[in-house]
Amino acid sequence: MTNMESKSYSRITGDLISILGQIIKPDNVLIDKDALNVYGKDETEDYNFPPDVVLKPENTEEVSKILKFASENNIPVTPRGGGTGLSGGALPVHGGICLSMEKFNKIIEIDEKNFQAVVQPGVITQTFQEELEKRNLFYPPDPASRGSCHLGGNIAECAGGPRAVKYGVTKDYVLGIEAVLPSGEIINTGGRVLKNVSGYNLTQLIIGSEGTLAVITKIIVRLIPLPKLRKVLLVAFDYLEDAVSAVADIFQNGVTPSALEFIERSAIEAAEKKLVKIFPNSGAAAQLIIEVDGNYDDILNKDIETIAEVVEKHKATNVLLAEDRQKVTDVWDMRRSISEAVKSISVYKEEDTVVPRANLPQLVTGVKKICGKYGITSICYGHAGDGNVHVNILKDKLDDETWEKHVETAIREIFELTVSIGGTISGEHGIGYSQRAYLPIAISQVELNLMKDIKNVFDPKNILNPGKIFL
Ligand code: LAC
Ligand code: ZN
Repeated sequence: MTNMESKSYSRITGDLISILGQIIKPDNVLIDKDALNVYGKDETEDYNFPPDVVLKPENTEEVSKILKFASENNIPVTPRGGGTGLSGGALPVHGGICLSMEKFNKIIEIDEKNFQAVVQPGVITQTFQEELEKRNLFYPPDPASRGSCHLGGNIAECAGGPRAVKYGVTKDYVLGIEAVLPSGEIINTGGRVLKNVSGYNLTQLIIGSEGTLAVITKIIVRLIPLPKLRKVLLVAFDYLEDAVSAVADIFQNGVTPSALEFIERSAIEAAEKKLVKIFPNSGAAAQLIIEVDGNYDDILNKDIETIAEVVEKHKATNVLLAEDRQKVTDVWDMRRSISEAVKSISVYKEEDTVVPRANLPQLVTGVKKICGKYGITSICYGHAGDGNVHVNILKDKLDDETWEKHVETAIREIFELTVSIGGTISGEHGIGYSQRAYLPIAISQVELNLMKDIKNVFDPKNILNPGKIFL
């Protein structure tokens, strides 16, 4: 096994940069300080790790040549999509090359007959979804950042989003991948088939591997028909516990919503401030956003009736229905703005806990108790239908010393609680750089060793996205 952290890498000199400028177009090589700073950041806290150089290859052969060169010269390479990651997966923490896949921005084929598409990794998720909608097709994974994140990054982190509760996450839609190994070799995993047991499932191994095993250069996804109708309920509660205890009950009553989100009041207040808008029910302690979709109005109405009965039993104080397109869009715009809005309040840590959905009440009350003990502000919201709660821990008005003293202990306690009730520490944001220290809370040493061995098989020189997942 390689020692992943003690390794030192070559610095990039002017000579190396001029060689790289021969591998790809010189215009696609960036070395100016401002550009390097941009590529040194993503959406994770205030981290900044500028690379030595940014390369923007335009085709698979260029990626292959760059990786071969980097392997031979002991240079770290960090692949990058839209830069919207929430665990620092795209940060070049050891410097070296930032491999920006932004020029891989073509939808190669939409195969309407087979409900499949072939895309490049730099396509923006929303752009892809809008192209599909024109053809009444649907690619459901919809992370909050879908307006700027890339499909390649979604695959690297196995992104989810609100609709995962009914339709599944990114891994459930990827049939095949073309990728380049750190050695420069090009592989094709899976294929244009819905079933495939021809050997180990390398496609699923690469999905969620956070850019540490291979660089994705082409993607085959499966599609489904676009549901014709969507209706959204906004349900208010006086107590967080009531809101989260209603969640599992909705499914037990035979309804699978296409989204079931939980938001506590302070998150809505932050979004109201950011968007300069007042939202319905915004004074309530907590709200559920419950969306149902399908093709038949009467079925959706029956689902809505069932949901209304269930939430009433859980002491909902108000239920509002949004049916027309604009109102539904407004609700989702508000929901998508929450992450940024909450993070703009103060210095923060963002967690991505996930538990079996019936255990949500234990998670949410536990988080409040732990944070309360240390005087730390917490704001919870997220994909309640999946049991996936984003816990934002804010420094807020706390002095530096108290924050520094307690923040890690509080996070550890939250993760220990999460695991003790059957959950894990990341549902959709990944471990990346920011969560590495906590991974052993969720994964045993034997499993960690197995994962490190797999990394070593793909990347024996540890040049591809080093410093991620493992400490
Ligand atoms: C969201 C991001 C933070 O759900 O995952 O808004
Ligand atoms: Zn989320």
